[in-house]
Amino acid sequence: MKTVVVTGATSGIGFAVCAALLKSGCRVIGLGQSEKNCAAAAEKLLVINPAYDITYLCGDLMQQPEVLRLAQEIRSVLERSSGGVLDALVNNAGCVRSWYMTTGEGYEHQFALNHLAGFLLTHELLPNLIKGSGQILFTSSGSHKMMKINWQDIMFQRRYRPLFVYKQSKLCNMLTVQALNSRFSGLNIRAYGIDPGLVRTEIGNKNTGKLVDLFWRRRSKHGVDPTIPAKIYADIINSKPQAENPYYGISGSLKQSREVNKQNADRLFSLSEVLCKIRFEVDEKCLS
Ligand SMILES: NC(=O)c1ccc[n+]([C@@H]2O[C@H](COP(=O)([O-])OP(=O)(O)OC[C@H]3O[C@@H](n4cnc5c(N)ncnc54)[C@H](OP(=O)(O)O)[C@@H]3O)[C@@H](O)[C@H]2O)c1
Repeated sequence: MKTVVVTGATSGIGFAVCAALLKSGCRVIGLGQSEKNCAAAAEKLLVINPAYDITYLCGDLMQQPEVLRLAQEIRSVLERSSGGVLDALVNNAGCVRSWYMTTGEGYEHQFALNHLAGFLLTHELLPNLIKGSGQILFTSSGSHKMMKINWQDIMFQRRYRPLFVYKQSKLCNMLTVQALNSRFSGLNIRAYGIDPGLVRTEIGNKNTGKLVDLFWRRRSKHGVDPTIPAKIYADIINSKPQAENPYYGISGSLKQSREVNKQNADRLFSLSEVLCKIRFEVDEKCLS
């Protein structure tokens, strides 16, 4: 039985991914930000099949101490259920903001959740992923293609442009995929970026201003049901594709932006290590 961690597992794409993985026989550890939404999501899944192996853990992934606490909880669950083996991590939690807002560390919300949270969680669970020759999936977006990294002001503190900040966070996901693959493919770890397409969810209606809220209400109506992109995640986790290109959508393998290159990937990786106060080093114990 494969064990998979999914962030942003209480609604939209993440919830549908949990349902698809459970249906295919995986054990799932879902992460959500509110106790109420976690309990409701667990109940909905167990109504489908009371035998599903689903555990929900709750915390605010924007805050780095919370990521560290959740990682510790995940490791304990893994020790009890799978001997510490993690087969896949789906870094999917995401948000949209209309204004410049910061976390406890002083990091901009979209950058902190859409990029740094997944980066830090991957670091914390790397030994478990190595044990499982694991996969790391990031929910990116086709919108990463119309963006460059704003190196001079990566959190857009000087001039906040919500859509640019969002697109940049999705480019960060693809750069992290490239950096992880170049560093850890020798350990049988493989990272992927997923473009779910336009999906009918409420991401643009949570903690956003009137303009973004209205824009997203109109736009998301044209999106597909979250169960459609959920199949991509379940297929990748169950079939482990080894193709060179790590970027997938509903129609299969996709072309990435030219901004996804070694220079940008290495630069973002080093900066993210500093911002998370970590170093990606592989412990000898993980290799034995
Ligand atoms: N919808 C699209 O068309 C689309 C297209 C491309 C990419 N994406 C990406 O898909 C991912 C999922 O988004 P979605 O569209 O499915 O929206 P969604 O339904 O709002 O899902 C977002 C998930 O993240 C959780 N979350 C939000 N803030 C959090 C925090 N601070 N700590 C922990 N969890 C938090 C949410 O919890 P709650 O349920 O409690 O709010 C929810 O489970 C995002 O990365 C998004 O960028 C979406």
